[in-house]
Amino acid sequence: MAFSLAERIEERQGDQYALHRQYLNASLARVQAIIGFDKTYTRGEGAYLWDAAGNRYLDLLSGYSVFNLGRGHPVVRRVIQEMLAMERPNLVKMDCPLLAGLLAEALVKRMPPGLDAVFFANSGADAVDTALKFARAATGRPRVLYLDHAFHGLTLSTLSINGGPQFREGFEPLMPGFDEVEMDDLAGLERELYPGDVAAFVVEPIQGKGVYIPADGYLPEAQRLCRAHGTLFVCDEVQAGLGRTGKFLSSEHWSLEPDIVTLSKSLGGGYVPVSATITRRAIHDKMFSRLERCQVHSTTFGQNELAMAAGLATLHVLDEEQLIERAATIGQKLMAGLAALQERYHVIADVRGKGLMIAIEFRPPRSLALRAAWTAAEAAQKGLFAQLVVMALMRDHRILTQVGGPGVNIIKLLPPLIIGEQEVETTVAAFDAVLAEATRIRGRVWGLSGQLIKHALSQ
Ligand SMILES: Cc1ncc(COP(=O)(O)O)c(C=O)c1O
Repeated sequence: MAFSLAERIEERQGDQYALHRQYLNASLARVQAIIGFDKTYTRGEGAYLWDAAGNRYLDLLSGYSVFNLGRGHPVVRRVIQEMLAMERPNLVKMDCPLLAGLLAEALVKRMPPGLDAVFFANSGADAVDTALKFARAATGRPRVLYLDHAFHGLTLSTLSINGGPQFREGFEPLMPGFDEVEMDDLAGLERELYPGDVAAFVVEPIQGKGVYIPADGYLPEAQRLCRAHGTLFVCDEVQAGLGRTGKFLSSEHWSLEPDIVTLSKSLGGGYVPVSATITRRAIHDKMFSRLERCQVHSTTFGQNELAMAAGLATLHVLDEEQLIERAATIGQKLMAGLAALQERYHVIADVRGKGLMIAIEFRPPRSLALRAAWTAAEAAQKGLFAQLVVMALMRDHRILTQVGGPGVNIIKLLPPLIIGEQEVETTVAAFDAVLAEATRIRGRVWGLSGQLIKHALSQ
């Protein structure tokens, strides 16, 4: 009998949460049920998802920034189909594939001066791990510095530069000499750099967890200090790169000239996993320093044809549709709409971000009665208020958002860069309605909290 994917899906639609509870991450499947995210999506296009009943959802998560071009972009899809039809020889390995060369060339053109050598891998963590190996090979030094709140992936090496204790717990000891420094503390950074044993300082110019943005002078001065102490300055652009913040790289907001840049997520156009680590030729060649070391760092699926084709198509669409400029202008409108809500709702402490990477941070309400509800919720689980808002946005407005990190009262928005005025209006109106409910003690938003508190306390 011929295998039909469509038939297989048709037969088993609706089994997915049970399958995940049985064979995959049961805890995650349970959390999705608790917060009302256990939907059966059947279609995705642009900024929207549809469920089996035909309901439409606005996706402000973008698969954690994988869908900068929106879902199912026709150009990327066509290029992938073209690629499959060509039956090109993929992953020969003992050759130098053309498409990898073309994508490397296209990426180098978009980099700050001097970054002219590329390594392709499959995920963000892969790209950062490669950056760490480049830095050690090039400097001969052991140590690495990273920032509080940093997130660079969850493999053991990237966990070693993770600034969130919740992620590290249970996996220690991590890499010795990989140490945290505080954002905006230049004196502290210089103290760590001074002994001359630090290979790299790794930063997300705009942090993914919480959307924390350093004070204006911090990153340029940190880069200068790194240069002065022979430490490589690494910008992890896995989430904030590729136009998300209104620039091709978020480091361009400060005209930085990093020694190494990492990219991933939307580089595959929302279809194919791919990542790139881009550095100076001199650094690159320190890793592949002799002919017999030409494969000292590699990964089986790096440079695969599908990923390279998707990457080329993605860069083309970013330019053709001027999505980077669009992220800047639409992002400003969205931030302005949310900032106007901040004037009306005391519970919004801050609206911050750049382009379409935006955080809304909450603080305890002013009214005593509401404050008691907030305190009870926070005592059960930190960041629960933000979770309630996320749940209400989904339940009442069919909008997908996320809490901006473990234990924080921050909602993070990462819409596709293709959204327009309509989506901005819908989003601002939905936040308005949910916060109006959340700032009334009998508001429907608080109705969700009992259930969440019960689950939090039973853990
Ligand atoms: C800045 C940054 N670096 C690295 C990673 C890790 O990427 P991946 O999940 O593809 O390993 C992420 C993932 O969210 C990220 O945001």
